[in-house]
Amino acid sequence: MRTQGASSGQRTPEHVAVIMDGNGRWARQRGLPRLAGHRAGTENIRSIVTACIELAIPCLTLYAFSTENWSRPSVEIQGLMDILGEFIDRETQSLHEQGVHLRHLGSLEGISENLCHKVRYAIDLTHHNDRLTLSIAFNYGGRTDIVNAVRKLIAQGMPADAIDEQLISANLSTGGLPDPDLVIRTSGEWRLSNFLIWQAAYSEYWATPVLWPDFKAEHFRQAIDDYGRRERRFGGINQPN
Ligand code: IPE
Ligand code: IPE
Ligand code: MG
Repeated sequence: MRTQGASSGQRTPEHVAVIMDGNGRWARQRGLPRLAGHRAGTENIRSIVTACIELAIPCLTLYAFSTENWSRPSVEIQGLMDILGEFIDRETQSLHEQGVHLRHLGSLEGISENLCHKVRYAIDLTHHNDRLTLSIAFNYGGRTDIVNAVRKLIAQGMPADAIDEQLISANLSTGGLPDPDLVIRTSGEWRLSNFLIWQAAYSEYWATPVLWPDFKAEHFRQAIDDYGRRERRFGGINQPN
């Protein structure tokens, strides 16, 4: 694990996961429709990606749509699908030029063929990039992720006593990524909402009342700085030298 931060000389996380929450409240405060909040919530992603690259953080994961978000009104769901498509159209080329490798976490079931095509195109185009892995959790649920991993192992004929934590981790949609060191949640909420529930078992948490569309690179840097001062124990005790 890397120990030196690029800007502060402190420990830098290898993987930061962000629950981008508060788009609806941001819109309501301005008397705008909720979708205006969701659209505004894609404008700051570029600056967060750039901050990750500058801080030499190799993995960033963004929670964009949960399996539970299907319970929202269909107009909002359709709008969120459209906004993801617009985001891919608008940002993929420049993300590619920045050396970003795009990944999708979750299921493409229930997603239109047109949007699936855009997602696959972006993943294929950026496949060989290795500066930053940007995973978009879309139609993602942590419990489903675990169920799918176990089903995959059983379908391969894996005997029960051969199934261990490493095998489950490797078969989650995050397979190959390190567990998130830091989970950030915006909008003053303090819960995981079914995000990376297995992978975040020992993550540090950082919450801010700032609503997602107002969350800028300076807030991100603040979270990373704060993380650098955390003492991680993983159940052990840190002995003084
Ligand atoms: C987060 O913003 C985006 C999604 C969950 C898709 P919200 O839409 O949850 O915004 P609030 O929580 O209602 O303010
Ligand atoms: C979590 O936000 C999901 C995403 C940010 C995509 P929600 O707004 O859906 O979570 P709850 O319902 O407040 O827990
Ligand atoms: Mg919310």
